[in-house]
Amino acid sequence: MSKKSKVTPWEVEIKDENDYERLIELFGVSKIDDNLLEKIKKHTNDLHILLKRKFFYAHRDFDKVLDSFEKGEKFFLYTGRAPSGKMHIGHLIPFILTKWLQEKFDANVYIQLPDEEKFWAKKVNDYEKIKELAYYEAKIIASLGFDPNKTFIFINSEYIKNLYSAAIYVARNINFSTAKAVFGFTGETTIGLIFYVSLQIVPTFFENSYPVIPCGIDQDPYFRLQRDIAEKLGYKKASTILSKFVWGLKGPYTKMSASDPSTTILIDDDFETIKQKIMKYAFSGGQPTLELHKKLGGNPDIDVCFFWLRVLFEENDKKLKELEESYRNGTLTTGELKEYTALKINEFLEKIRKNMKWAENNLHKFMYDGKLASEMWNWKFEPKV
Ligand code: TYM
Repeated sequence: MSKKSKVTPWEVEIKDENDYERLIELFGVSKIDDNLLEKIKKHTNDLHILLKRKFFYAHRDFDKVLDSFEKGEKFFLYTGRAPSGKMHIGHLIPFILTKWLQEKFDANVYIQLPDEEKFWAKKVNDYEKIKELAYYEAKIIASLGFDPNKTFIFINSEYIKNLYSAAIYVARNINFSTAKAVFGFTGETTIGLIFYVSLQIVPTFFENSYPVIPCGIDQDPYFRLQRDIAEKLGYKKASTILSKFVWGLKGPYTKMSASDPSTTILIDDDFETIKQKIMKYAFSGGQPTLELHKKLGGNPDIDVCFFWLRVLFEENDKKLKELEESYRNGTLTTGELKEYTALKINEFLEKIRKNMKWAENNLHKFMYDGKLASEMWNWKFEPKV
């Protein structure tokens, strides 16, 4: 990593693409290469753009999971979101891929909403408010189209009795010096956060089959530790599928922060707000004047709007190529590119807005009484050894 770059679950600083390569080495994960994509495609026919465009770029053991799948062994999916305030478009990335994988592989999905995590990390101060927000975030996630009978969404403080049956074993098997080395804990870290590590590992033991975890690469440390202890407890090592981070509005590799509206688009921004934010804040690869832009062309490689279109919002490869070429040769202006991006993001969020009512009426199935959820309220950890 370059000197200033840092990646822990609570602090992410990436400076350039090289940092992503270095993380692969540092974390000991593998690159998602064309061979793996072909292997996935054998089962799915097509590839989700998050895979095809390699925004999910690294993994652990997903090739092995697919090998066993070919022999008839199913896997389950697990991911999560720690409620902290409002959700932004970056937070949706792992859920979008998880939903697609559920559909293609007919897998159960477990979604953890640890309402205590950001409170213990001192990223938020009002716990009661966060707990309330967790239900709202559960609705947003449910509205992405998960199967209500094969998906269990749980809030830690509600589901803690079940989680605790496994946390007892997990917490005994990880010592402080290991956790400190992996997470960078210091003397200032709350003891809550140290214990929290076990709570994020527990759902990897919900089934006897392989847990597959799509998430941002910042979350990998938890699952590295899981892999040290899983077999000892009689369970399978976790497989992760890891993504890069979506740039914030302010430019390449900047952060999205839900608490600073000038850095990102929130899921509940309306069209006017999306447009205004993009027009005002989105870092552009265009030239300072229209005249220069027509003459010299723009640079899509550093343009936030183009980046967002490439990562998620423009699924049509041909259209993306056209946009890239016309931006480079100056016929597409920055204003036009921004306008188009605002429309595409709004189109995407409109689907969520429309599904929210359905999600509200069906949330009980995801959380309490759908097929999987009702089974899970009876789940209790059984150590196998
Ligand atoms: P949280 O709530 O910080 O983030 C939720 C998920 O979103 C990813 N993410 C991003 N992905 C792409 N671009 C971005 N700009 C961006 N910002 C955030 C994160 O990597 C994460 O996958 N501890 C977790 C909650 C959790 C969890 C899990 C995550 C509980 N169990 C199991 C993954 C798997 C957290 O604080 O996520």
